[in-house]
Amino acid sequence: MVRYTGNIFLVGLMGAGKTTVGRALAKKLNKLFIDSDHEIEARTGVSIPLIFEIEGEESFRQRETEVIRDLSGRRGIVLATGGGAVMRPENREYLKSRGTVIYLRASIHNILQRTSRDKNRPLLQTADPRRRLEELSRQREPYYRDVADIIIDTGRPNVQFLVHSILSQLELLPNQLPDELEQESQVDTFSQASASAPIPSNFSMNQPSTFPAPAPTITLQVELGERSYPIEIGPSLLTDRERIARLITGKHVAVVTNTTVAPLYLQGFSQALKDAGKNVLEIVLPDGEEEKNWASLMQIFDRLLSAKCDRKTTLIALGGGVIGDLTGFAASAYMRGVPFVQIPTTLLAQVDSSVGGKTGINHPLGKNMIGAFYQPQAVIADTMTLHTLPERELSAGLAEVIKYGAVIDAAFFKWIEDNIDALMARDNVALAYAIRRSCELKADVVRQDEREGGLRAILNFGHTFGHAIESGLGYGKWLHGEAVGCGMVMAADLSHRLGHISAIDKERVCALVRAAGLPTEAPNLGTQRWLELMQIDKKNEDGQIKFILMKPLGGHLITTAPQDALLATIQQLASGDMPR
Ligand code: NAD
Ligand code: GLY
Repeated sequence: MVRYTGNIFLVGLMGAGKTTVGRALAKKLNKLFIDSDHEIEARTGVSIPLIFEIEGEESFRQRETEVIRDLSGRRGIVLATGGGAVMRPENREYLKSRGTVIYLRASIHNILQRTSRDKNRPLLQTADPRRRLEELSRQREPYYRDVADIIIDTGRPNVQFLVHSILSQLELLPNQLPDELEQESQVDTFSQASASAPIPSNFSMNQPSTFPAPAPTITLQVELGERSYPIEIGPSLLTDRERIARLITGKHVAVVTNTTVAPLYLQGFSQALKDAGKNVLEIVLPDGEEEKNWASLMQIFDRLLSAKCDRKTTLIALGGGVIGDLTGFAASAYMRGVPFVQIPTTLLAQVDSSVGGKTGINHPLGKNMIGAFYQPQAVIADTMTLHTLPERELSAGLAEVIKYGAVIDAAFFKWIEDNIDALMARDNVALAYAIRRSCELKADVVRQDEREGGLRAILNFGHTFGHAIESGLGYGKWLHGEAVGCGMVMAADLSHRLGHISAIDKERVCALVRAAGLPTEAPNLGTQRWLELMQIDKKNEDGQIKFILMKPLGGHLITTAPQDALLATIQQLASGDMPR
């Protein structure tokens, strides 16, 4: 256990959880909790809405600065600041120079849920609070990032988890050691190696940016009741034994990887596991989509049984989506279910396949046809592993990133358009943001529809066409992400034909897929074969092919399509003769 002696300042939008988390954190650290808005009310004897009404916002801001100046000068406090406090340079200076600043970041969706009935927020008393919040977020986000030493994503409320995440990150701050951290009797001196650095203030949601500094570690939470789990994203997490000890429970672990990833990362990761006190069994499979099959699954079971692994053994997937899907399925079935952890090492796996619990193998008659929903205990995404990824694999991962923008978040789509060069150049901060946002969006969908009763199907945007390409050409000819990229262009074309998106938006999808280095024209499998292949899809019902379409860009529609429009899309975009 460690005790942190400095001041802690919480910043973030209204409704991000500063008061709730601040209070719990203060209790844990035995500090005094103060909320700056409450302090202003106590000093003036008047409520915040009334101060706004009588004196106006500027006067409120002046009072806020005085409160921050006075309180930040004390020692040993946790201070929750107002959402707009960071806009004044003098406030930022007080916060930065007098303690550790934690930015509690929440999605607009969550904030709206939390503040919907709160009349004490004068800035949200408008006809369109969502729009107002989006505006405030755009204005303030760069300043939150600028002051923050630590960024924590709050997701849906789970206060104890958030406090735990904050405490672990406080331990990692290099300038707090050893003076600021008073160690109690049982000292845990695990790694301080992966200290996080703040995202540079020139990072922009809307403009192309340069990204000089490494990204900090980000923690998200997939909220699924008792099966909830964290996703930790950041550099050099693979060898961070403190994190490994915290996130991977149990003494016995079996690491499943493949012949490409093993020489790169297995030794370092296994050593970190051993340093964290684990017994490690290593299982190295052949590499390739065509190996995502029954034989590989049996190899895993053979090794587990030969080594007498019991039902407390944790299976760890170290690799891309193929290893993740295989290992997860093995974990779901071995002794009727053993703990499972995902260590994704491709961009595709970090933004998609490691999150959400879909596991399985391919069948010669259809992709991912045999499998189970089985959630991991944790996902640890080490962004440094992306630097050894072949270019084609990076592009394949970007396909899934684009997918989220195309059917869930138009602003994110625009951000990807603006930052595609940085992403292709593997800029650490751009990649970390793309992974974070993708995981946030996916986690939110999975939370609402874990077993794909409806909404989750939107995550298959581009996949109906994409799976047909993969099966039609033979697994492994095109990468999964390449097939999805091309599939999204076809789905955009169909969306346009059916009047759901404009020609301009259809072109934007095609241009972005191309800029990500992905194919935009599909192989000519023959119209009849295309239709047959698309008929074997888990989304289909009563023989009807279901498509995920854009309506509009950043939105979605799950529907069947008239035969003539579908044939026109296939004939226009799948006339190439192009195994890659
Ligand atoms: P992959 O697992 O085949 O990995 C791609 C290649 O990169 C492989 O050769 C792999 O060995 C290599 N590799 C992995 N990490 C590396 C690294 N850090 N440096 C160098 N090389 C590295 O493919 P993928 O794109 O990661 O995943 C595709 C699979 O994921 C498909 O089978 C697809 O069906 C599945 N998938 C599953 C879900 C899900 O929700 N479960 C979602 C999307 C995709
Ligand atoms: N990749 C689609 C899903 O997880 O649902």
